[in-house]
Amino acid sequence: MNAAAHADSVTRFYDSHPINEEQILAALRAKGVPREAVTEDDLKAFDQDHYGGVEALEELARRAGIARAHHVLDVCSGMGGPARYLAHWLGCRVTGLDLTESRYRSAQRLTRLARLEHLVDFRLGNALAMPFPAGSFDAVVAQESWAHIPDKSRLVGEAARVLRPEGVLAFTDIVRRDDLPEGTARRLKDGMTFTEIESAQEYVRLLEVHACPAVQVDDLSEAWTAILQQRLAMYRSLKASTSAKFGAARYEQYDDAYSFFVSLYERGVLGGVRIVARRRAA
Ligand SMILES: C[S@@+](CC[C@H](N)C(=O)[O-])C[C@H]1O[C@@H](n2cnc3c(N)ncnc32)[C@H](O)[C@@H]1O
Repeated sequence: MNAAAHADSVTRFYDSHPINEEQILAALRAKGVPREAVTEDDLKAFDQDHYGGVEALEELARRAGIARAHHVLDVCSGMGGPARYLAHWLGCRVTGLDLTESRYRSAQRLTRLARLEHLVDFRLGNALAMPFPAGSFDAVVAQESWAHIPDKSRLVGEAARVLRPEGVLAFTDIVRRDDLPEGTARRLKDGMTFTEIESAQEYVRLLEVHACPAVQVDDLSEAWTAILQQRLAMYRSLKASTSAKFGAARYEQYDDAYSFFVSLYERGVLGGVRIVARRRAA
């Protein structure tokens, strides 16, 4: 798949995703939160599109040593949930980068709603060609996104480039625990736009190549299997809103792809990894 086709399929996938701005705002209304009074404490339960919610983000940030004085880049920031939470929790500046325009616009609107735009900003762009000068950030984070992106060497190289010397790269991602059979890889690509699922070992090798050696590597596979089973149930609970917004066929297609994805965790074919790496001194 070439870069343009990859970008198109990811954008289409996230333009019709069961977790979206309208669904988040409906959840807040259902909780009785008036629009003008929405805070990050209200949003955080609904706007994190990774596994383990804000607890997983806090763990990642603690391991990365992210602090108030830091400027953090969230690569593949989605609707901006992690960026907003980090800024709210730690008081640091956060910039989010995402490829999907609908996600980028939602991130901006939700950030204004939570009155966090003095700390959090977003850029529309591709992680394979980040629109930032070298050494711009103290820390780079990413959660459950890089499986979408082809050319991991270029991706890791870009993340390392925009980090200052001795800056920290901390990310979690979906990984393969062995070679994926052709049919499995194709189904993940077609159904979930997981263009290229890497192994944890290959990530560690690429980080070394890009002068950003891994300092901590944690296997999250077991915890993620349980989380993904719960997420499947959560997506099923959104059947009515997903079908109303995107059509019943889209709901069925997503359900089929997601249940296959979860089954690969149950069978030990896929796993999860958390990696913290530090860019070498200049
Ligand atoms: C599962 S969501 C994760 C969002 C966010 N990390 C979170 O935890 O809420 C994956 C995001 O990756 C973005 N994405 C995929 N490929 C990308 C690329 N090449 N460059 C930038 N963003 C990309 C998608 O648009 C989507 O918003």
